[in-house]
Amino acid sequence: MIDYIFSKSKLGLAPMSEINNKIFRQICKYMGAYPVFTGMISSDAITRNHANSFQLAEFDDYERPLGVQLFGYSFETVSKAGQIINERLKPDFIDFNSGCPVRKVVKKNSGAALLKDLKTLNLILKKLHEAVKPTPVTVKIRSGWSRVNLKEIIRAVEDSGIEAIILHPRLAVQGYEGNASYDLLKEAVSSTDLPIIASGDIDSFEKAVFIMNSTSCFSVLVGREARSNPFIFTNPYVLPDDKDRISVALLYLLRSFLASGEKAFWSSKPYCAAFTKGISHGAELRRNIFQSSSFYELYNVLHDKWERLDESSYPEIVFLVTELKKKASLL
Ligand SMILES: Cc1cc2nc3c(=O)[nH]c(=O)nc-3n(C[C@H](O)[C@H](O)[C@H](O)COP(=O)(O)O)c2cc1C
Repeated sequence: MIDYIFSKSKLGLAPMSEINNKIFRQICKYMGAYPVFTGMISSDAITRNHANSFQLAEFDDYERPLGVQLFGYSFETVSKAGQIINERLKPDFIDFNSGCPVRKVVKKNSGAALLKDLKTLNLILKKLHEAVKPTPVTVKIRSGWSRVNLKEIIRAVEDSGIEAIILHPRLAVQGYEGNASYDLLKEAVSSTDLPIIASGDIDSFEKAVFIMNSTSCFSVLVGREARSNPFIFTNPYVLPDDKDRISVALLYLLRSFLASGEKAFWSSKPYCAAFTKGISHGAELRRNIFQSSSFYELYNVLHDKWERLDESSYPEIVFLVTELKKKASLL
């Protein structure tokens, strides 16, 4: 099963709440991301039939393999939510979040707070596994709360029926400070038979390969770097040029427009801006992106620049933009 969910030769898209919507996930998937995750979704909200939370969990078959990530603090609620998601959406796997350090999550004893209550974490995973089987369950952890107790955490989760452990090797209290510790990753790999999936500071294909080779982890996930450079998932990796980066911004904008109409330009702005990171005169372009006040204005800002650039290392993405322009009647 693990070989279907994770790949030794492909990088996965890490769970990122408020970033990993369907359009972003599908762009990453198109580039080669395998698997992709939703952001974390509240088990509580799912069991209360909260429509917006369901929307966060919805995906298209194209995105498979996809993991829906849940968070929560009680085994009853988490297993119930897992069952509901499993029956209604049939994701390829369900990931449980035990690594989020955000205050509003940990103050309810969810996310990384469970690293301080390993008995409860074990019980949640066991019950979740029972509730959704044969759908695989994975867990995403950090290396501890305020001190490293990785081995203890691994002991607590490995007999719960889960298929893999996703490790972001920083302490919860660190947030994103310091570097992800690949020594801890190596330690995790050698202390369990479960596959370890690495997440943290992977910002190039070469780094991903280096980490897999030097730690023997099973696969890796990319988070923040994918926001500005979804080309990171391509294998072999070819450095995108300015035209390619703007193509991705246009892809995002046009797909949002086709899905939700002109109002989609508001939520598209930060994505379009992020995708232009690294291009020449990017700061000016991003200023114009943020100052645009309508879909057409934003489209023209990107499209004018796009048309002035010929070169492309990824002509198929340029072609996709042309197709979407036709679909959106913008040719
Ligand atoms: C904006 C943002 C949202 C995130 N949301 C989640 C989440 O919902 N669930 C989760 O397990 N991790 C979440 N993470 C953590 C990432 O999955 C990842 O482990 C972390 O960013 C380290 O990897 P990176 O250096 O590749 O970004 C989030 C990270 C960011 C930057």
